[in-house]
Amino acid sequence: MEIVVKENYEALSNYVAQCIQEQIKDKPSSVIGLATGSTPVGTYKELVEAYKRKEVDFSKISTINLDEYIGLSNDHPQSYHVFMQEQLFNHVNIEEQNTHIPNGVATNLEEECQRYEQVIDTIGPVDLQILGIGVNGHIGFNEPGSSFTGKTSIVPLTESTIEANARFFDTMEEVPREAVTMGIQSILKSKKIILLASGESKAPVIEQLLSGEVTEALPASVLHQHEDVTIVVDPLAYQLV
Ligand code: GLP
Repeated sequence: MEIVVKENYEALSNYVAQCIQEQIKDKPSSVIGLATGSTPVGTYKELVEAYKRKEVDFSKISTINLDEYIGLSNDHPQSYHVFMQEQLFNHVNIEEQNTHIPNGVATNLEEECQRYEQVIDTIGPVDLQILGIGVNGHIGFNEPGSSFTGKTSIVPLTESTIEANARFFDTMEEVPREAVTMGIQSILKSKKIILLASGESKAPVIEQLLSGEVTEALPASVLHQHEDVTIVVDPLAYQLV
């Protein structure tokens, strides 16, 4: 596991965007694993700027998103579908049929999970997976206690995640309680993984992660078992280490 400390959020975002651009330059048909949450927003902004400067071509890439809330339609403003369109897809030359996000309103969610796992296996392996991290160490929506051998599944969200996500919704009642998420095993199939963490709220979890203990109580700690992982942090997220 490699640690890269960038001087601030902008530098972190720029660095991660560069990594994605290099991946696409090396392999124009790359499969990129994408994350939501506020941390990668700056990275997507940098990618859009790079596209405008004609420095990157998304026409041949495919993307696979980590997760989606259950019960939010694909056009709900807080759905991860809309998030991805607003932050990245609408602004670059990515082919819509090459973007993949779980359907949180599928009539049969069990089948949707199986379908999504097949997408990962058919289109994948993911060449470069971008990850954020929850304050409780979750990756995707794999909450503490999730099995390291888990595939795409329906998961309940913990109170800590529901509270952290509440800022995006008008009332607590609107915050989804469940999600469809790629499992930890699905994530580990990726060839290369970059995890981003910014800001002091992430400092305790980054400290725990870097302590090296591998435990299902801290889902991100499984990344110690993967051979190509880079953790990119800013000084606030790294302050306690
Ligand atoms: C959500 C997403 C995760 C993300 C996490 C952290 O729970 N499912 O993929 O890593 O939020 O979000 P933020 O970057 O806003 O702290």
